[in-house]
Amino acid sequence: MSLPKRVVLVGPMGAGKSTIGRLLARELGYRFLDSDRMIEERCGANIPWIFDVEGEAGFRQRETAMLAELAGETEAVVATGGGAVMRSENLALLKQNAVVVYLKTSIDQQVERTRKDRNRPLLQNDDPEAILRSLFAIRDPLYRQIADVVMHTDRKSPRLVVRQLVNRVNPRTPKHRRQFRKEGRHHA
Ligand code: S3P
Repeated sequence: MSLPKRVVLVGPMGAGKSTIGRLLARELGYRFLDSDRMIEERCGANIPWIFDVEGEAGFRQRETAMLAELAGETEAVVATGGGAVMRSENLALLKQNAVVVYLKTSIDQQVERTRKDRNRPLLQNDDPEAILRSLFAIRDPLYRQIADVVMHTDRKSPRLVVRQLVNRVNPRTPKHRRQFRKEGRHHA
């Protein structure tokens, strides 16, 4: 089994896509690319500002353009925004040359991890838990449809999730290969 060209992380807000993505990239010897952060850099404004000025539709357009750009990347772990699965055209872009990993997380964990966050416009209202529940009902089937690997993250440290992911994605990472070479061992 050879390494996937890209690993794409999908899942809801608060699933840990960025934290886990960064660690996983380091482990695989890949670059870490975060779709939301790249949209912000490209636009010179943060996500709340984009939602405010251009509406969610404007953000979704930028997101599709970014996913198209990221589809051509190799040797990269890509973290996506929770709504990346909402446009059907995005699904093909997410899957292109990639192993797609769904970081599945309970509503309780999502609520806990997003509680103090002011950077997620969809949750800036009186009942973020109700929003997370309704988004889950719509999006969970889409995440599952697109995923090659479903990884539960509840009650697991990011490090443990990454260790389990490395084994699922490919047990022989570049790091391990270097180790093998140093030790003068060979593998197919
Ligand atoms: C969104 C999730 C956010 C961000 C935007 C919209 C969503 O990303 O893309 O606020 O629709 O679920 P995270 O999943 O990284 O929080």
